Amino acid sequence: MLSTIIFDKMKYYILFGPPGAGKGTQATAMVEKYNLHHISTGALLRKEIAAGSELGLKAKALIEQGCLVPDEVVEGMIENEFRTVTGVDGFLLDGFPRTLPQAEALDAILARNSDEVTATVSIMIPDAMIMERIKGRALKEGRADDASEDVINNRIATYHSQTEPLIGYYRNAGKYHEIDGTGTIEEVRDRIFSAMDKF
Ligand code: AP5
Ligand code: MG
Repeated sequence: MLSTIIFDKMKYYILFGPPGAGKGTQATAMVEKYNLHHISTGALLRKEIAAGSELGLKAKALIEQGCLVPDEVVEGMIENEFRTVTGVDGFLLDGFPRTLPQAEALDAILARNSDEVTATVSIMIPDAMIMERIKGRALKEGRADDASEDVINNRIATYHSQTEPLIGYYRNAGKYHEIDGTGTIEEVRDRIFSAMDKF
């Protein structure tokens, strides 16, 4: 008799939200609880800058002005991580996609393996709280794009003009789940866990 082997599909979670919403903070607990690989395109780009690579040199000027790097650059990084990371139940995409073309490219990359985005977990905070949290982090971490109020304001404006439209994209696909990002780190984490436990 033929036996049927059922493989669990890989999960692809998008961790969405404005700058300083708490994506990186919450990602740590999420990857541990759900056995995911964390991909932060911002962290990958900062690694390239620190290494002084050609890509890093190109990205540096854009990041330090609070602008996005070209779509193809981050799409290539994501594909590379999908290809090379194994031994996890899925991926947690932090800061990707950030434009509609990136969201469409992600769908196309996943469709090639008959995969799809599992869910978008969106951490939302008001703009005034973004400024407050990023200024707090600037005192501890020294990220170049946290150093000036003008750059932070440009990151917020870039988020509203280029990234916010993705809310409609994922909402239309029935894959958008918004989490209140205000309150303590633990309160936000618990809200995320209770949403993710249902996916
Ligand atoms: P990226 O590194 O992704 O930065 P970001 O989206 O601006 O988000 P942050 O990392 O600033 O915030 P976060 O949400 O992770 O908050 P965190 O947990 O640290 O991208 C940087 C740049 O790279 C972009 O501007 C762009 O140029 C480029 N880039 C990246 N991806 C790209 C893409 N896909 N396409 C094109 N370009 C791309 O929390 C912030 C602070 O708040 C911390 O100090 C934390 O301790 C604190 N905090 C967190 N939660 C709480 C809480 N509940 N209560 C109190 N404090 C809290
Ligand atoms: Mg981050």
